[in-house]
Amino acid sequence: MTDQRPTVALHTYGCQMNEYDSELVGSILIGQGYTIVGNGDPAEIILLNTCAVRETANTRVYAQLGQFIAGKKTRPGTIVGVLGCIPQNLKDELLAKFPGVDFICGPDNYRDLPQLIAEARETAIPLTTVDLSEYETYDDIAPRRVPGVNAWIAIMRGCDNFCSFCVVPFTRGRERSREADGVVEETKRLAADGFKQVTLLGQNVNSYRAGETGFAELIDRVANVDGIERVRFTSPHPKDFPEHLLKVIAANPRICSQIHFPLQAASDSVLRRMNRGYTMAQFNDLVNLMRDTIPNLVLTTDIICGFPGETRDDFAETEQAVREIEFDSAFIFKYSRRENTLAARKFIDDVVEEEKSRRVTKLVQLQREISAKRNRESIGQSYRVLIEGRAKKSADQFRARTDGNKIVLFPKNDSLGVGDFCNVRITEVTPNTLLGYIS
Ligand code: SAH
Ligand code: SF4
Ligand code: F3S
Repeated sequence: MTDQRPTVALHTYGCQMNEYDSELVGSILIGQGYTIVGNGDPAEIILLNTCAVRETANTRVYAQLGQFIAGKKTRPGTIVGVLGCIPQNLKDELLAKFPGVDFICGPDNYRDLPQLIAEARETAIPLTTVDLSEYETYDDIAPRRVPGVNAWIAIMRGCDNFCSFCVVPFTRGRERSREADGVVEETKRLAADGFKQVTLLGQNVNSYRAGETGFAELIDRVANVDGIERVRFTSPHPKDFPEHLLKVIAANPRICSQIHFPLQAASDSVLRRMNRGYTMAQFNDLVNLMRDTIPNLVLTTDIICGFPGETRDDFAETEQAVREIEFDSAFIFKYSRRENTLAARKFIDDVVEEEKSRRVTKLVQLQREISAKRNRESIGQSYRVLIEGRAKKSADQFRARTDGNKIVLFPKNDSLGVGDFCNVRITEVTPNTLLGYIS
């Protein structure tokens, strides 16, 4: 290792799991004498931690990757490395597409990064390390976190569910859980470092198992760490949701009354072809049980429009379900064909682009009305909120979150700051935000 501490810019795309992984990567590299610089600053090593979940995610990464590679002409010697889900799925295809890439590294190979970077500086031949592992959980590595209110903790890696549309089981490999004691120890360190909230991450947290400990026991242990005031998690899968988790959430005030519960589609025939493993009736039963067990539950979801073979009637069932369930908010996506997935191999992507867009627009509009309606129920109520920072549009306002994870904006008060709690009474709402004043 040289004495000048080579500089690294690390660009992160995709989900919270990737955010967490970039913190691991930061920690591994700093431990080897590298310096991580801000993303706008010049760096000798440029790393992109990538997402492959939809074509739009790929396109975004490719556009930026093209620019970084072009930049090598003016800054010879710059190393460009591509990490994460795109290289894991495409492997050498990615190198063929972008000959200027110096190395690729999959999500289970981050321990090899210092070695890869060192070798890439010595050779012009692109290097490839994309071996999925059945065991790697990076349990012993303390991620390099930016101080703040929330810390992510990956409690498991990989996914064995193989929903037919989804590339994640191919990019992240087989499911494996971290030891519960390691997760609890990490939480204690976070509390000591001043974090008020942790969010437990897994592609399907229901599958978490370490010895005798399942997810419900784990989250209860994490929520009992002193100093941590709020615990969230994402995501559970509707096919094997552990019902006793609801009692644990209801009984422990530090576990937030918020569940992200991805529906994807409402027609049973579409759900079957998606390989989701539940029917709409089962999903509805679970939602009713959730709402009966947890008062004031905030429920959010993911929906895909235009899955292969989705008819207008199938889509009408999704609209109907969205109308009836009244989620607090929803991420709504156009189906995007992913290479290697079961859906790509078995079905024709037959819903034309304009029709997919029409369905997304229609559902987004419907959900906006429902979100606004649900938010209006908050007007006049007072909520305990955790301050995260200043509002994007106004330096005079704080940005905070309710227990249910809704964003609240309100005029600043000089005696309060980031990481503090206060009560806010809601006076106005939009589909995405609550507005009020300290009460
Ligand atoms: N493991 C998480 C989901 C990770 S991907 C879970 O099951 O909750 C996040 C969301 O992206 C999914 O819920 C799905 O709605 C969407 N998604 C995944 N693959 C997609 C595809 N091929 N096209 C469109 N949306 C997709
Ligand atoms: Fe993808 Fe399904 Fe696994 Fe979620 S549970 S990551 S949607 S395969
Ligand atoms: Fe996450 Fe995208 Fe990979 S959603 S797991 S970064 S494909």
